Amino acid sequence: MKKLLCPSILSADFTKLKEDIKEVEAAGADIIHCDIMDGHFVPNITFGPDVVAKVNEITDLPLDVHLMIDNSDKYIKNFADAGADYISVHFENNNHLHRLVNYIKSFGVKAGVVINPATPVSVLSEIITETDFILVMSVNPGFGGQKFIKSSFGKVKELKKMISEKNPSCAIEIDGGIGENNIKELADSGVDMFVAGATVFKAKDRKAKIKELKDLIN
Ligand code: DX5
Ligand code: ZN
Repeated sequence: MKKLLCPSILSADFTKLKEDIKEVEAAGADIIHCDIMDGHFVPNITFGPDVVAKVNEITDLPLDVHLMIDNSDKYIKNFADAGADYISVHFENNNHLHRLVNYIKSFGVKAGVVINPATPVSVLSEIITETDFILVMSVNPGFGGQKFIKSSFGKVKELKKMISEKNPSCAIEIDGGIGENNIKELADSGVDMFVAGATVFKAKDRKAKIKELKDLIN
């Protein structure tokens, strides 16, 4: 599986979102990661389907929509219609994951399940046969620019083993505190998709940073 770099626009400058997205697209970003927060499941609020639809107009890149919201099921269609190519939902606040994952796939969208830092990989043992990807949170969700939680290295290895046994086509995504100091080790451990917010958008030279990160994973 090709390794993919997914800049998170959470750390972009929203006064010039279009320029920022065009810049990372031209620099070789593979996917645009959209962080959706509702102020309930996480303590921060971001944006919804209307903004995602505008992002979809700006870029030709696939959109990866990470839902950090309660009642995700009510909004799947809105995000699919807005142009999401990937949608991930959290294990922690969704009671009927099997139904929800298959509902996401019914729109032709790749479906992922996310686990928080305190959630063990073992909870995925049944749902993993249904998912297109699993997102391992390597920070507590809610904010960009946080420090990578080191126990995530072990979780990725454990997840890779589970995936090899149960669903080898399922990708592993990681999100939170990703940068040049940890991305290669994560790639070597089996991560396929790397979300990077602050590392990309707060870099002095975004183009050079994207090249550096992509060189490290490929
Ligand atoms: C955190 C979000 C992340 C965030 C990552 O809740 O899910 O996608 O943008 O930001 P960095 O890369 O700055 O940790
Ligand atoms: Zn995210």
